[in-house]
Amino acid sequence: MSQAPRTWFITGASSGLGRQLAEALLQDGQQVAATARNLDSLAVLQETYGSLLWSAELDVTDTGRLRQVTDAAFDELGHIDHVISNAGYGLYGAAEEFDDQDIQRQFATNLIAPVQLLRAVVPHFRRQKAGHFVQISSAAGQTGMAGGSLYHASKWGVEGFFDSLHDELSPFGIGVTIVEPGAIASSFFTRVGVAKAINAYESGPVGALRGYLADPDTVIANSIGDPAKMARAIIDAVTTSQPTQRLVLGSDAHTMIQQSLTARLAAHEAQREAARNTDR
Ligand SMILES: NC(=O)c1ccc[n+]([C@@H]2O[C@H](COP(=O)([O-])OP(=O)(O)OC[C@H]3O[C@@H](n4cnc5c(N)ncnc54)[C@H](OP(=O)(O)O)[C@@H]3O)[C@@H](O)[C@H]2O)c1
Repeated sequence: MSQAPRTWFITGASSGLGRQLAEALLQDGQQVAATARNLDSLAVLQETYGSLLWSAELDVTDTGRLRQVTDAAFDELGHIDHVISNAGYGLYGAAEEFDDQDIQRQFATNLIAPVQLLRAVVPHFRRQKAGHFVQISSAAGQTGMAGGSLYHASKWGVEGFFDSLHDELSPFGIGVTIVEPGAIASSFFTRVGVAKAINAYESGPVGALRGYLADPDTVIANSIGDPAKMARAIIDAVTTSQPTQRLVLGSDAHTMIQQSLTARLAAHEAQREAARNTDR
């Protein structure tokens, strides 16, 4: 075991990054509360790790169930050190191509569910006088991209929410880390939602993105982020004595975020005088 024994709670543990996190922690001998929409997806872990794995069925968009499962995990396990809000999916298309349900489901899963999970967890963390909440965001939470408006908006939303919580929760001994991975070689791109096309977008960047996403094998082959290495990096980062507020994973994420921040900072700086001109 490379870590002192701790207890972890993870959403979306059926595949990808959530699955890698659960497996790495269980291999280390850590106690894991893993949740998934389909419990069958955790059967092999349950067989292999027995009582180290506590599991529950959870669709994170069901807020009532999310509260029940969170309370049950804290009650039955006694103490949880780290909660990893990982469940999420991608949705792509031009803004006007999405239907209302697409929009609602994307925000319900990627933004409202993390907000509600944090709200369910905080009373327990306050009672413990300790706890660390880890939100899986994305490089998409610091950048924008044609065809990605809704996914990026959902991740910018979690960035704003969790960024605000550091000072709010640190007096209670509660930490928050926002994780910003680049492209991960997971099944994410086999499951993305793609809006029904409007012809006008076909020859532009949205059409190009749609064409690219139509071949998920190539997208995954081009995704340089190793989910096992990312899982290990997250575990290592959040178990240090002073975890960082943000954790960037993948050289692509580092480059994209740097380019975005640099351009924004230059544009921001150029407005210094104009901004001052409206002071009273
Ligand atoms: N892949 C990337 O390139 C990338 C890059 C940056 C950030 N991320 C973020 O990383 C996180 C994990 O993604 P991944 O790459 O590991 O993709 P993944 O393999 O598709 O895993 C996504 C997980 O989220 C779960 N999930 C989706 N909607 C859910 C819901 N309503 N309730 C409960 N669970 C739900 C999925 O469960 P089911 O098996 O039931 O569908 C699955 O376990 C996501 O938040 C994603 O936005 C991904």
